[in-house]
Parts: sequence; structure tokens; C-alpha cells
Amino acid sequence: MNKASLSNAGHTSRPVVIRRKAKLISAVLFSAALIGSLVTASAPGVAADSDETIAVSLATMLRASRAVISKNQKHINDANIGDKGLSTAVVVAKAKENYKKATGTDVDSIDPASLHGKLIKAQLAAIAKVMDNAQGTINKKGVSLKGFLPAVFARLVAEGFTANVSGQATLKLTAPKSYVRNRSNRPDAWENNVIESMFKSADHPKNKHVAEAANVKGKKAFRVILPEYYGKSCLSCHGGPKGERDITGGKKEGGTLGELGGAISVAIFK
Ligand code: HEC
Repeated sequence: MNKASLSNAGHTSRPVVIRRKAKLISAVLFSAALIGSLVTASAPGVAADSDETIAVSLATMLRASRAVISKNQKHINDANIGDKGLSTAVVVAKAKENYKKATGTDVDSIDPASLHGKLIKAQLAAIAKVMDNAQGTINKKGVSLKGFLPAVFARLVAEGFTANVSGQATLKLTAPKSYVRNRSNRPDAWENNVIESMFKSADHPKNKHVAEAANVKGKKAFRVILPEYYGKSCLSCHGGPKGERDITGGKKEGGTLGELGGAISVAIFK
């Protein structure tokens, strides 16, 4: 479905053990399983998506939905308008549209019974809940700065998703340690290592994500982390001069255009 799906990094091989006593039965069963798997593999769209594909898909949906908030930031901050027309249904529909533009895949075509389908559904439910809860804030007349920012939206969606799928997967917006504003976004040791030793390295290709089997708080997982860079629109808050207050009251990071500013981190537990 996208470039990452071409990689096999998420697949694990399942060794087949044949005991001597049950050799014949096992051989028959093995043949049947083999034929079954060949049939399955040859049917288009049936082979399960790899963990890497699923993780990149979840990060893509996070970006697709956050883009709706970014695009409407001025509108959200307009004190003269009450109802902003950014209902849950509107935001979810626009997020799906952005996702399709980015991947070429209609998110509703993902098999709802598959792990990919279940996790995407849980993410869409998290997006819906964040937007349900935000209506009162964003539709308030007479207030310009409402604190409903793309990064806040993304954190709330990531937290909601992680709660919805408890124990199956986690989604997180993080940043280089020196740039983290919200302590709940701090990178863990694995994320910090990728950020500092790979993403910040001059030889790391821009936008390239890193995927690896690695633990999360001692639990076995397949992890994927995608870099995010400061664009022009970010620098009014994250740019210079360092330490000066931005419009939200936070301290500016002193970041520069194109610099690594954050990362989206996904874990799928094994
Ligand atoms: C209006 C000011 C503002 C703008 C513009 C802005 N941010 Fe932020 N950003 C914030 C605030 C405030 C937080 C803390 C959010 C929270 O509480 O979770 C934050 C958090 C983040 C985080 C999460 C890590 C952390 O520090 O907690 C990342 C990553 C990030 N911003 C990247 C960006 C990028 C990339 C852009 C541009 C596309 C951008 N921001 C634009 C204010 C801003």
C-alpha cells in the first residue's frame, strides 16, 4: 500500500517442528498448511500487512489528521466566529482524504478484521473523541488563542489511541530531549538513541524512518520511528531567539528551518 510495505522487516518466520513419531501426520498437515498458505498468499489483498506497514500507516493517519488542524489554525483562533464547522465528522472525513492522498489507499478498504484494520479503527475513534471533546473550546466566541494546536491534538490522539488498544500498540509524538516541552512527550532510551545517533546524523536520509524489534518498558515490540522537521510555520513558536516566549507562553527552542524537531513513534507489541 505504500513504500514501507515493500520491506519485509516486520515479518517473522514461524519454524515448523516435526516430531519423529508423528512424522507422517505432521507431513500431511504441513503439506495442507503449505497449500493453504500458498492459496492465501496468491489471493490479492489477503496477506496480512507487516508490522512496519501498519506502524507507518498509523503515523500517516496521525499526520493526515493533524494537517486538518494545522490548515484550520487561523480559523480556530478567530475570535469573531463561533461555530467553526470543524465537527468530528468533518475532521475525520478530511483526515481520511489526506490519508488517501498520501498513501493511495482508502482507509476504509483496510480489512476491519485484520490487526491493521483494528488499529486504524481505534485511531479514528481516538480522533473522533478528541474532536468531540474540543468542540466547546474551538467554537468559543471572543477567544483567540485556545491552546488547540496541532501538537496538542496529536498528543491527545496518540494518548487516546494508546488507551483504546491497551497492550497491543502505542503511538507517541516525541522530540529531541533538548526540545521537549511537554514532559509526557519525552523520548525513551530507544527513541532517544535513534534521534541522537541516526536522525541527527548528516548521513541519515531525510524523512527515512527507522524500524526495529526492540522492547518498550521491558515488553517485546516491533518499533518504528519517523522523523519530523521544522517547517517555516513552526518557527514562530519553535524558532529563535531561543528562550523568548511564543504566543502560547512557551519558551522558543531556537530551532531552524529544516532541522529535526520531533518524531512519531509507534510500537506494536508481540
Ligand atoms: C503556536 C505555537 C506552535 C507552533 C506554530 C508549532 N508548535 Fe509545536 N508545540 C507547541 C506547544 C505549545 C507544544 C507542547 C504541546 C503539548 O502540550 O503537548 C508543542 C509540541 C511539539 C512537539 C512535541 C514534543 C514536545 O515538545 O512536547 C513537536 C514534535 C512539535 N511541537 C513540532 C512542531 C512542528 C514540526 C511544527 C510545525 C509544523 C510546530 N510544532 C508548530 C507550539 C507550537
